[in-house]
Amino acid sequence: MTATTEETYDVRLRVNGMAYDVTVPARRLLSDALRHDLGLTGTHVGCEHGVCGACTILVDGEPMRACLLLAVAAQEYEITTVEGLTNADGSLGPVQQAFKDCHGLQCGFCTPGFLTTITAGIKENPEPTDDDAREMIAGNLCRCTGYQNIVKAVTRAAEIARDDAPGSAQ
Ligand code: FES
Ligand code: FES
Repeated sequence: MTATTEETYDVRLRVNGMAYDVTVPARRLLSDALRHDLGLTGTHVGCEHGVCGACTILVDGEPMRACLLLAVAAQEYEITTVEGLTNADGSLGPVQQAFKDCHGLQCGFCTPGFLTTITAGIKENPEPTDDDAREMIAGNLCRCTGYQNIVKAVTRAAEIARDDAPGSAQ
């Protein structure tokens, strides 16, 4: 029996403001490319079926499941992973800080997906109510079932982002 060699493709991925050149098979999931080819292991993989939300990244600012995207199809876009959510000076970004403030972390497995989802959510709705917050995170599953503090973190993150916005009174 002869082994077949899988065809590979050269792909340039733009992630968190950096360009990465990788050579991947056509079927390489973006979630796997981020974790294994780029070493950005902050993106977590739970279900690999688009259900749990753990692998959520931002694609041109919009939340997307990295397990439902192919690396070869991602090169047109600006990708942001959880590693890219810190402030320019390296301090915690608004959503990261809010999770810390509100104890939104438990085991932390689902956290990167929540952080990216909420980052996009509060951009779209800068003043979310608790109901808005619940709706915002409805597509992300947390097996530690700690949603209460995550909901609190959404409103806290929005508050921090508003305070950090240029022109706001400090
Ligand atoms: S790992 Fe992608 S949605 Fe669950
Ligand atoms: S914090 Fe454990 S799965 Fe969400």
